[in-house]
Amino acid sequence: MTPLPQISLPAAPVTTSSVPHLTSIHANAKRGPYGSSRYRGNCGGYLIRDLLNYYNPNHVLDPMKGSGTCQDVCRELQITCTSMDIREGDDAADPSSYVGFGKVDFVWMHPPYWSMIKYNEDPNCLSNAPSLDAFLDRMAIVLENCRVVLAPKGKIAVLIGGFSVKGRYQPLSQLIMARAIDQGLWPATTEIIRFQHGNTSSRRTYNRSFIPGLHDTCMVFEEA
Ligand SMILES: C[S@@+](CC[C@H](N)C(=O)[O-])C[C@H]1O[C@@H](n2cnc3c(N)ncnc32)[C@H](O)[C@@H]1O
Repeated sequence: MTPLPQISLPAAPVTTSSVPHLTSIHANAKRGPYGSSRYRGNCGGYLIRDLLNYYNPNHVLDPMKGSGTCQDVCRELQITCTSMDIREGDDAADPSSYVGFGKVDFVWMHPPYWSMIKYNEDPNCLSNAPSLDAFLDRMAIVLENCRVVLAPKGKIAVLIGGFSVKGRYQPLSQLIMARAIDQGLWPATTEIIRFQHGNTSSRRTYNRSFIPGLHDTCMVFEEA
């Protein structure tokens, strides 16, 4: 098998950014001391940390906290973080889950990649949405709920990747981007391609041919 080439990243222009290494490509082989790598579908904390250092929010919301990676990054940066998860009984698609914590100026959202990993048996869990349209409809409700609690100039970051179901590719980031724009959000910046190191699927052998996806995509939205 031909090994993947070891390449360096393109040079980034000099800007006044307080996080100059934060570009449209996020490549970090380490996950950092945040959250738990044992939680299926977990991502490392460095992209979250870079975004928080860049946008400098005072109050962060993670509506799908999983093992709490975002919460751990916020603790390190001493930023107030409100988080919830369906497995603790809080449905991010239910507006009543958002009552009482006031406005937030940054949302970090790392939803299930639809049915790629089944998280539980709860019918309200996004991983149990019975169809792609049902998944996108619920994601649109979650986005709207987050938008309602978003302070002026606040940002909503969504990290998600595509995958194939029965041989048909599901371009989840593009479909969510289209829904978000439809409901009055707009990309605040370039999409960020996050290299997926340590992916479970990267260690598998398949007896069919396809082009493996080695990244997911982070989209950052603001009010249009
Ligand atoms: C990709 S994982 C998030 C992993 C997380 N970033 C971490 O630090 O481990 C997706 C999470 O979304 C949660 N989830 C799915 N549907 C939800 C819903 N309707 N409301 C709240 N959480 C939900 C799942 O329970 C799961 O923990």
